[in-house]
Amino acid sequence: MLNVGCRTKVSELIANRYSPYDFSEQEIPLEDIKALLEMARLAPSSYNEQPWKFYVGFKDDKIYDTLLDTLFDSNKRWAAKAPVLIGVTGRTNLFLNGKKNNYMEYDVGQSVAFLTLEAMERNIYLHQMGGFDKNKFVESFNLIEDEKPVVVIALGYNDEKNPHRKGRKELKEIVVSERNIF
Ligand SMILES: Cc1cc2nc3c(=O)[nH]c(=O)nc-3n(C[C@H](O)[C@H](O)[C@H](O)COP(=O)(O)O)c2cc1C
Repeated sequence: MLNVGCRTKVSELIANRYSPYDFSEQEIPLEDIKALLEMARLAPSSYNEQPWKFYVGFKDDKIYDTLLDTLFDSNKRWAAKAPVLIGVTGRTNLFLNGKKNNYMEYDVGQSVAFLTLEAMERNIYLHQMGGFDKNKFVESFNLIEDEKPVVVIALGYNDEKNPHRKGRKELKEIVVSERNIF
């Protein structure tokens, strides 16, 4: 299992986070979703470009149904129970000078990480998905040329009876250092 030591509230939230496949049908209050999005806004980004955009769908509204429709069947099967789906896009070019933003995906991921921590604080779980039809997303939301879909996220309250926690690589596999921190 995960070899982690939690010394702070933040590390506890990080250690307890995982991506469930089973959500309860309980609705998420609007103010909670707003708070999550407010935290996503605060993430750092290259040149402070804030290249992200969030398409927020609540069960049975048009945005929700459109996002659900973009998902690959393997994801649609379980994600359809989630009360909220969020599609996240990023601007491929810099607002600054129109050149390619090489850090767009990095920045979008970081904003989703901020959103995730605020969600965990409110006992809301996320399951991110790359398994969706990007072309369908572009067409359905009529995205402009330099707006690219990055991820679709299912959000809700965790209803898993037997959670399966995924393992992680050991520190020595992912860290390079001259000090013995392994
Ligand atoms: C960018 C991204 C794309 C992902 N795509 C999918 C997906 O299409 N379907 C799925 O079931 N899980 C998907 N996941 C979830 C990962 O499989 C999961 O985060 C990873 O196995 C670690 O497990 P954990 O989040 O439970 O710790 C994705 C996660 C990320 C960050």
